[in-house]
Amino acid sequence: MILVLFGPPGSGKGTQSEYLLQTGKFIHISTGELLRAEVKRATPLGMRVANIMEKGELVHDEILMALIKNCLSEISTKHIIFDGFPRTLNQAEAFTCMLDDKDLKVDLVVDFKIDLDQLIDRISGRFSCSDCGFVYHDIYHKLSVEGICDKCHGTKFVRRIDDQSEVVKNRIQQYLSSTEVVKQYYMQKGIMVSVDASNDPETVKLSLKNCLSQAGFDI
Ligand code: AP5
Repeated sequence: MILVLFGPPGSGKGTQSEYLLQTGKFIHISTGELLRAEVKRATPLGMRVANIMEKGELVHDEILMALIKNCLSEISTKHIIFDGFPRTLNQAEAFTCMLDDKDLKVDLVVDFKIDLDQLIDRISGRFSCSDCGFVYHDIYHKLSVEGICDKCHGTKFVRRIDDQSEVVKNRIQQYLSSTEVVKQYYMQKGIMVSVDASNDPETVKLSLKNCLSQAGFDI
């Protein structure tokens, strides 16, 4: 199954991807994570996109498509979660062609519906382990033991530079202005469903599981 998780910043796409990954049935491609890794390693690509990401703007479609092409060339499984991609109509159309060349297609797009007011609250409390990247929240997903990562026992934590409130507002704006056409694109293909992402993580997880099951993929 090729699954696309679609939704605004902070709607919980990464959190739900992590749950799906735990089933052992998927691999996860997050374009945000891929880009942040390039920035962290200060690669030529990372240096090109760092400023754009810091401002909360979208990275150019051509860069995204090159990243995705590279990922697909290295992957043998056909069960992939795409998190945060595609985000523009150009990306969606180019993605369809790219998958078509491999006799693949997007099977399901899940839209994470959430009231925009909730996003700032979620993003402003987000932090992650600097060793393994596992994501937490000051209120909604606390560390089990203060100062120690539940997953890898790391002791250093970071907050994303683009999670500052002014940048978040821009990211939400970018999302609103570019994504409606993408939704229409997948709606016309009849593969778009939605979950109520304003619920607690366990409830969202169940909704997502139901969506997958109705699409013929049990986890
Ligand atoms: P990216 O990293 O993709 O960021 P995003 O889409 O803005 O999404 P986030 O990672 O902020 O949120 P999320 O939905 O994963 O939420 P999470 O699960 O962490 O993109 C970053 C940048 O890269 C972009 O701005 C752009 O510059 C560039 N980029 C990436 N892809 C691109 C593309 N395709 N085209 C162009 N540019 C691209 O949850 C958030 C917090 O809430 C966490 O603390 C979590 O613990 C908590 N939480 C999660 N679920 C719940 C819940 N149900 N209840 C309560 N709390 C919850």
